[in-house]
Amino acid sequence: MAPEADMSIIPSQGNGKITVPELLQRKSSAADSTKKKITCLTAYDYPTARLVDEAGVDVVLVGDSLAMVMLGYDNTLPLTIEESLHHTKAARRGVHHALLVADMPYGTYHGDIHESVKNGMRFVKEAGAEAVKIEGGERRLELIARLTEAEIPVMGHVGLTPQSVNAMGGYRVQGKTPGTADQLLRDARSVETAGAFAIVLEGIPRELAAEITREVRIPTIGIGAGPDCDGQILVLHDLLGLTFNEPPKFARRYANVGEAISRAVKEYCADVKEGSFPSDAESYHVTTNAKIRRTIPISR
Ligand code: KIV
Repeated sequence: MAPEADMSIIPSQGNGKITVPELLQRKSSAADSTKKKITCLTAYDYPTARLVDEAGVDVVLVGDSLAMVMLGYDNTLPLTIEESLHHTKAARRGVHHALLVADMPYGTYHGDIHESVKNGMRFVKEAGAEAVKIEGGERRLELIARLTEAEIPVMGHVGLTPQSVNAMGGYRVQGKTPGTADQLLRDARSVETAGAFAIVLEGIPRELAAEITREVRIPTIGIGAGPDCDGQILVLHDLLGLTFNEPPKFARRYANVGEAISRAVKEYCADVKEGSFPSDAESYHVTTNAKIRRTIPISR
């Protein structure tokens, strides 16, 4: 094995490791019966990334939703590149099978194009991401092309793009009128033309998502976009029931981890207070023939 293969922080390919070409292949094999839907979830730290990866998900996204679900911000806009890199590095340590994608935070790709490409490179070089995700359609054409030229695979994201919350006037389903639906189709085509390997379709009507999925040759990953996309993504905390607000209607809850945590912590507090934790069995003991030597310090 070449020494650099040994040193790489990205797990080696083969043995079922999900890669960008493998994901593209899933789209191109749509006509045959072996087509498999692409499963994607967010994760932002070592334990959850590891659990999600070991459960067999195809793509782990260190989404900028981390701003809200992990860091308690009101929206995704305040997230910094340093916060995002920190979480991507942690997730990297837990992911061995899935493709690890990092979301570029708001403000890290909206200005100078050289700076934006450099920021994208930081996710690959410093944090071990295998791809980056950026929000926006037609107006990101040049940036997606430049990132792709710089060997950074790009996942696009169109529709309800949370970084545009102020411009959209809230989190609203997009593409409901013929004019906005046409624009979204153009956005998706631009993202594909620019060289993205996949595209997230968020918060758009099912019918439009199905049309975009038919029209583009790259896999579409839906969130609030109905079942006809090539894959699906959810925010892990929504799926686990670990959020404090009412989740959107598309976010199916598979567990109630928030309730499990509250219950466990309340039981622990009660046990400590009543003296049943720790028990004798949970305590260390001196060996039978050892004497406890107590020296009493003399204080003057
Ligand atoms: O930040 C995020 O979690 C996302 C996904 C929901 C697509 O962008």
